[in-house]
Amino acid sequence: MLRHKINPGLELRLLQPGDAAALFAVVEANRATLREWLPWVDATVKVADSEKFIAGALRDRAATRAYQSGIWSMGSLVGVIGHNRIDPAARIAFPGWWLVPAAQGQGIMAQCCPVVFAHAFTQLLVNRIVVGVATENVRALALVKRLGFKQISTLKNAEVLHNRRVDHFIYSLVPKPQ
Ligand SMILES: CC(C)(COP(=O)(O)OP(=O)(O)OC[C@H]1O[C@@H](n2cnc3c(N)ncnc32)[C@H](O)[C@@H]1OP(=O)(O)O)[C@@H](O)C(=O)NCCC(=O)NCCS
Repeated sequence: MLRHKINPGLELRLLQPGDAAALFAVVEANRATLREWLPWVDATVKVADSEKFIAGALRDRAATRAYQSGIWSMGSLVGVIGHNRIDPAARIAFPGWWLVPAAQGQGIMAQCCPVVFAHAFTQLLVNRIVVGVATENVRALALVKRLGFKQISTLKNAEVLHNRRVDHFIYSLVPKPQ
């Protein structure tokens, strides 16, 4: 999915090398809040880090292993949504997403996710979407429940965030029956 206009003010666009400076700027401006749940934030310290992320994402997309779209709201880059990994053999996609705090609370991610998931089911031919959410990440938990994900398990010590072991609830989403 190269580009998808969700409504006149909200658009998904595949992240391109030319977006690196804008991407780094929003991470830099929102570092303190984004780092709470996103382990890569502390390692993103210069534009070259965002360039590297985008180049890797484009390489992975070419191999149908992953992809990352920017989220533009009223012309500004406000977040990212994509699949951090796609397993073609198991036909599972593992998505990830974030929004800057100023863009939260407006239903932006709730509108972006169904577009990305529909693309995964129909174009990437996955038959399941699986995501792990930190058990204390209240906003992310509310989002997955709102989207219709079902909790399938709990993974203890799923990641280390700022020297703290964090458990994940694992959620799964399958296509709605036709
Ligand atoms: C997870 C995250 C993307 C959720 O963002 P969000 O803005 O809360 O998500 P939504 O798009 O579903 O918006 C829901 C809010 O918009 C409101 N809303 C407005 N219009 C809406 C609509 N059309 N549809 C759904 N919700 C709508 C809801 O009432 C809700 O408001 P509330 O925050 O007051 O409860 C965000 O918190 C984030 O980026 N967190 C940091 C990174 C992170 O944790 N990523 C996930 C790792 S698994």
